[in-house]
Amino acid sequence: MEVDRRAFLATLGVGTVGMMSHEDRAEALEHHMMEELDKAISPLPPKPTATPEQQDGPRAPRGTGRLFLPREEPFEPMPAKPTLLDFFEKRFAPANHVLQSATYALKTGQPEQTIIACLLHDVVLNLIKVDHGWWGAQLVEPNVDERVSWAIRYHAPLRFYPDDEVGYEYPEMYNRMFGEDYVPEPYIEQAYKYARAHSWYMDARLVTLNDKYAFDPDAVVSIDSFVDIIGRHFKQPKEGLGFDNSPSAHMWRTIANPDRPL
Ligand SMILES: [Fe+2]
Ligand SMILES: [Fe+2]
Repeated sequence: MEVDRRAFLATLGVGTVGMMSHEDRAEALEHHMMEELDKAISPLPPKPTATPEQQDGPRAPRGTGRLFLPREEPFEPMPAKPTLLDFFEKRFAPANHVLQSATYALKTGQPEQTIIACLLHDVVLNLIKVDHGWWGAQLVEPNVDERVSWAIRYHAPLRFYPDDEVGYEYPEMYNRMFGEDYVPEPYIEQAYKYARAHSWYMDARLVTLNDKYAFDPDAVVSIDSFVDIIGRHFKQPKEGLGFDNSPSAHMWRTIANPDRPL
């Protein structure tokens, strides 16, 4: 997918770019690409975003999840015992980016654990964008194999580090958008070094590899292809996601009810 540099920079706001760390800018670029992708291919109405008037005035912090941006439509009600599929349908849709990355993993015969990791790797962006690898892992940790949440956590720092052996190059787009002097923050580098030396390294690396194929405006994808894999690899609580008292139940409840005042 082509990214219009000027349009992207405009989303960040006048005067903001110089104040952002390189890490912030790289994050912002990825989120911008996902939003543009959804707009380009979604059969659904685009997710509400700030109006032009709002963009010139005060704005929500950039780390705000999509569900917390200004919107005109009310949220679709969730069923009493929501499943992961309900969340995909009513809160994450159209979710083209994660569906495309999981579809690529499926079509290229990758392990089901990689496919489920790809399917879930960025869904937390609906809740919060800051440090999304860590939040994303925490969200699904009670429901998936430890290696799946591990892969989701470390895909975020690994994005910034090439690995010639598996054909993962540093994203050219980061050079074009931000210049070539980008240096990840120390905590990112630390996390990268830890993951690089870990025996599960490839689990997370595969998520970054499949990420590369997940910005195609012509791809046609659907959650239907993953219903069985979700059944095998995502422990669905019988009480419904958000109501099983798991360590991340509150996160699911927040995604279900972004409008609650307290
Ligand atoms: Fe990501
Ligand atoms: Fe991604």
